[in-house]
Amino acid sequence: MYRTHTCGALNMSHVGQPVQLAGWIQRIRELGGMTFIDLRDRYGITQLVINEDTPADVKTIAETLGREFVLSVHGTVVERSNKNPKLPTGDIEIALSAIQILNASEIPPFTLEEPSDGGEELRARYRYLDLRRGPLQRAMALRHSMTQETRNYLSQCGFLEIETPFLIKSTPEGARDFVVPSRMSPGQFYALPQSPQTFKQLLMVGGFDKYFQIVRCFRDEDLRADRQPEFTQIDCEMSFVDQEAVLLQFEGLACHLFKTVLQKDIPTPFPRMTYKTAMETYGSDKPDIRFDMPLHEITHLAGGTEFALLSTAEYVGGICVKGAATYTRKQLDQLTDWIKQPTVGAQLLVYARCSTGEDGALMYKSSVDKFFNQEALHAWGRVMGAEDGDLLLVTSGPREATQHVLGTLRLEMGDRLGLRKEGVFAPLWVYDFPLLEWDEETERFYAKHHPFTAPKPEDVDALFSNDRNRLAQVHANAYDFVINGTEVGGGSIRIHNARVQEQMFHVLGLSKEEIDSKFSFIIEAFRYGAPPHGGIAFGLDRWCALFSGHESIRDCIAFPKNNSGRDIMLDAPSGIDPAQKKELGL
Ligand code: AMO
Repeated sequence: MYRTHTCGALNMSHVGQPVQLAGWIQRIRELGGMTFIDLRDRYGITQLVINEDTPADVKTIAETLGREFVLSVHGTVVERSNKNPKLPTGDIEIALSAIQILNASEIPPFTLEEPSDGGEELRARYRYLDLRRGPLQRAMALRHSMTQETRNYLSQCGFLEIETPFLIKSTPEGARDFVVPSRMSPGQFYALPQSPQTFKQLLMVGGFDKYFQIVRCFRDEDLRADRQPEFTQIDCEMSFVDQEAVLLQFEGLACHLFKTVLQKDIPTPFPRMTYKTAMETYGSDKPDIRFDMPLHEITHLAGGTEFALLSTAEYVGGICVKGAATYTRKQLDQLTDWIKQPTVGAQLLVYARCSTGEDGALMYKSSVDKFFNQEALHAWGRVMGAEDGDLLLVTSGPREATQHVLGTLRLEMGDRLGLRKEGVFAPLWVYDFPLLEWDEETERFYAKHHPFTAPKPEDVDALFSNDRNRLAQVHANAYDFVINGTEVGGGSIRIHNARVQEQMFHVLGLSKEEIDSKFSFIIEAFRYGAPPHGGIAFGLDRWCALFSGHESIRDCIAFPKNNSGRDIMLDAPSGIDPAQKKELGL
């Protein structure tokens, strides 16, 4: 009734055919007595033409048209005299014989073209218009392929997709819960799941040895480009597996998605790195290994001078930036300001340019020439692998914080030098995470992953030691999946023994009463023959953003929230009326 073809379908093979198309007007151009209309739908853009041969009634209607009007048009496919090689339909146009206006449109508040002139806030308010634009149309199609191919792959491997409830009791994932007041139990609340963690474990106890779910998760946490209050996980769990089996299974899923969604073959096995190596070498537990530039510790070579920031620091380290000795004084001053800003948090940036002197030997020109002679700087350069033309960047402070700063500096230099190449994908497994993290402020341990993560078998005794130093050394069978510096997934082998689970809660500072009131269901379940199990969850939004080259996961979610957690289009969250509040006992 409305169309015989889509706006992306027609080409030279259709010339001479009568066709009917439906879509939105992207643009109208008048040129030398002719009118050209770009008609757009999900599949593409086709040019409609009105010229001297067009029937008079069509010309009359055409004069009333505007951007984003919805049309159904009849016409004949003709070869264009002025072809557009950038458009798949660019060889043809439609000579119109009839136009039906299906709906008029107000003038849209921003242009609905590839780069739009609309600001973020405006586009969020009119999200349904923004969604008509190419980048978002493509992101949604890619997301569809991701979920479809995930289902294909996991189903073929024998996984069952099983739904779990949204109205649940609080799960301890580390973020705050969103809560829902209960009308039937006044004064009581459900919590929305931060993930289906406990349910998927109970499914293992229930005998489903391979589970997955593409599931919404809810976390009330501070938002960033890669965090939304509601986001989607590809959530998976398996019984009778060790870490190796889990990594191989999901390396398979990743390869399948690379291949079917991006047509890319990624070599296997994916590189693996321990948490310790990742922190020491890249200053991050999610290193971007598309480029090298490792961190080097030179604490032992930075002492013995009056330069206290180096000589008394717990850790002195640096990176060697290949070919960057050309950095000017001004650029280095800017970099110093950058590294000292609170979000990065360093106290100083020392630099040394490495070049070849007149005698043909390497020499250094540094910002600390007053304190370190050539011999000392050569020692730095040897550790850091410096060559002619390189720039050494060094900073100091507490060990872990400084490694983190250097990791951030490394990414910044990677960006500046164009080393983080688009379209290149470097997946990586990071494993051997510590089980626990001590928090100085609250003086207690937190689970680094979550409280259901198993200690390595050889560390179980240490978990029962109740000795703070030994507990801090306990490693977990936990792993993260990283692509290009983004944590795309995380998981672990779980505790399946009631006694070990109780001890874990105890170490996390939960009283017997708290354990009973919050977790008796899972501890009880573990007493009825829980199988050994483990799993992983992938952040679908993050994975889609990476695959589609978007900076923010918002661009891969049809109706996202802004950075304050608001839906600008709906104007939510919002108040509710007093009667509703009363009914809920609020
Ligand atoms: P975790 O908390 O590591 O593990 O989450 C798994 C993955 O989900 C993604 N993710 C997010 N994406 C967008 N917005 C957010 N706010 C957000 N938070 C997390 C990340 C992350 O790697 N139940 C465990 C998994 C398990 O142990 O099997 C869990 O949820 O990509």
